[in-house]
Amino acid sequence: MYTHSGAGWHIRDFERRDYRPCYQLFRGCLQEFPWRGPAAPYLRQLFNSLPTARAWVAEEPQAGIVGFLTLRPDSGYVDHLFVAPDWRLCGVGRGLLHVGREDMGQPLLLDVDAQNIAARDAYEALGWRVLAKAGETGHEQIRLIGP
Ligand SMILES: CC(C)(COP(=O)(O)OP(=O)(O)OC[C@H]1O[C@@H](n2cnc3c(N)ncnc32)[C@H](O)[C@@H]1OP(=O)(O)O)[C@@H](O)C(=O)NCCC(=O)NCCS
Repeated sequence: MYTHSGAGWHIRDFERRDYRPCYQLFRGCLQEFPWRGPAAPYLRQLFNSLPTARAWVAEEPQAGIVGFLTLRPDSGYVDHLFVAPDWRLCGVGRGLLHVGREDMGQPLLLDVDAQNIAARDAYEALGWRVLAKAGETGHEQIRLIGP
């Protein structure tokens, strides 16, 4: 579907066997966001959203799942985009967003935590624009729209 021949990973549709590795990847990444508080509600939200989501994984033969993206097919809103720390800055995030954008045929939307500077920098590098401020006091988010 989408292959990065140099780095050895490819992107494919999410399958049932991907639940556990995506869950583990997500749980690990949540530790990077101490401002979010306990992980349990976010883990539940991932499981609840997957049955109706469009979702893709990036997979490398040795490492397994190195990233995943879920989005809402009715709106193109990205609920999850997570890349394993060892696999960042290799184009995985760009590839997942490209596949989602192609599938939707329209710009994608997402909310990024105001405190998540690394992700905000990545979206800026990828040509995303600020649409509005979102979220509540203490958990400010920024609504972005993709190219
Ligand atoms: C944000 C995230 C998905 C980016 O994924 P990635 O695979 O590292 O991104 P890519 O390698 O495809 O990089 C895409 C562009 O963003 C830039 N970029 C990525 N991370 C960056 C960072 N921390 N600082 C500055 N620029 C960054 C890259 O340089 C690249 O731009 P370029 O092509 O002009 O060089 C990844 O860092 C991640 O999973 N973070 C933790 C979870 C998270 O915050 N998810 C987003 C929730 S809204």
